[in-house]
Amino acid sequence: MHHDDEVWPWYGPEKPSLQEAEQWAAFMGVSWRSHGVHKWIAYDRLSGEVVGRGGVSRTPVDDDRGQMYAFLPAEPWARAAHRIRHPIVAHANWLEIGWALRHEFWGYGYASEIGRAGLVFAFEVLGVQAVVSCTVRHNAHSRAVMERIGMRYAGEIRSRGKFEGIEGLQDDAPFAVHVLLRRDWDR
Ligand SMILES: CC(C)(COP(=O)(O)OP(=O)(O)OC[C@H]1O[C@@H](n2cnc3c(N)ncnc32)[C@H](O)[C@@H]1OP(=O)(O)O)[C@@H](O)C(=O)NCCC(=O)NCCS
Repeated sequence: MHHDDEVWPWYGPEKPSLQEAEQWAAFMGVSWRSHGVHKWIAYDRLSGEVVGRGGVSRTPVDDDRGQMYAFLPAEPWARAAHRIRHPIVAHANWLEIGWALRHEFWGYGYASEIGRAGLVFAFEVLGVQAVVSCTVRHNAHSRAVMERIGMRYAGEIRSRGKFEGIEGLQDDAPFAVHVLLRRDWDR
């Protein structure tokens, strides 16, 4: 899926190799076992074809996502780390949600379906306090999914990524952040 020409440019400067994709998948497997959550693979129910991947994952402490504290309540849970510190030291009480679909499956609502399932898993199964989502400012498709599933725009952070219309990665690209707090989910 990350070899799809409409997908990989949103993740890095070049198409990942099969080995890189396998390393990424292995990391997700370890995260499921250690932290009890990471991305799912989505399959077409009739054909069994891979449609995409998505869902919720824990975010590392001590990286650019620390800027997201500004969009979370100033309470101890926001910065608390998960007790299992492998494969990363991750936030314990909030998760990041995301999605990616093979291009032929865009436009049918599958990412929104993945997103809604991820929110249910995060709040109802794992009982987290918040779910955030983050994408480069000009990723209109992904931001539309965030809005469609009830996440609200909170502001921007700066991190390594792409500026619209500019080749390559920059350290201070703008990323839009959407947030859903537990209290709003419960309401
Ligand atoms: C982001 C991405 C997953 C969004 O995919 P998508 O197909 O636009 O999103 P959805 O699956 O929610 O589908 C919404 C579209 O399907 C339509 N749709 C049809 N049936 C629908 C249904 N039952 N429910 C919701 N939407 C439906 C909507 O009207 C909308 O169409 P529009 O784009 O013309 O407005 C896709 O663009 C992608 O894979 N991009 C590359 C990877 C990426 O950027 N990931 C995010 C990085 S942070």
